[in-house]
Amino acid sequence: MPRKNPTTGPDGLTRRGFLTSMGTGAIGVAASADLFAAGKEAVDPQVMPAGRTSKVVLRINGETHVVLAEPRWTLLYVLREVIGLTGAKPGCERGECGACTVLIDGVARYACLTLAAEAQGSEVTTLEGLMDGETLGPVQTAFAEADAFQCGYCTPGQIMAVEGLLRTNPNPSAEEIRRGASGNLCRCGAYKHIFEAAHRAAELKRGK
Ligand code: FES
Ligand code: FES
Repeated sequence: MPRKNPTTGPDGLTRRGFLTSMGTGAIGVAASADLFAAGKEAVDPQVMPAGRTSKVVLRINGETHVVLAEPRWTLLYVLREVIGLTGAKPGCERGECGACTVLIDGVARYACLTLAAEAQGSEVTTLEGLMDGETLGPVQTAFAEADAFQCGYCTPGQIMAVEGLLRTNPNPSAEEIRRGASGNLCRCGAYKHIFEAAHRAAELKRGK
């Protein structure tokens, strides 16, 4: 079962890798300063000014979006604050709750741990992308039928996790459903109904 907070992304760049490279860059700048202080040839560190944006091309729910984004901006931030798709929710924003779950190339991922730049070249699916016009998709329908929410804040992420699971495993066992949804927390404790909804969603997708 693929993890939702991968250490490598589709183009090899991850939040952790990004931060690591930033740390490496800081060491490089310090080393350059030492060389300069020693009277040797200094290397221009080419530091990008804070607030500088660059073009990022994203494929989201079958449409192409060209946005200007800072390298540090997460996919979650760009989806919600730049593009206006608010289905993915900010919860912990550090890879613990799953409220921000989207599909990247069909696999459930935490959008809060994915840089927008990482998602270039991939197909991103959000909660909105499961709709057919104004009609709910099968997983959304199953959650409504099973009354699988209380406050509803975790629900978009739970639905995307189940959607991701069913794309790789159309007929999961109860244990596989529990494992597939294990990256998504529900503070209301609606797990029993969430698992029932996942089972029902599998049936709906199989045309039952
Ligand atoms: S908001 Fe992304 S995992 Fe909690
Ligand atoms: S329904 Fe409230 S957090 Fe899950």
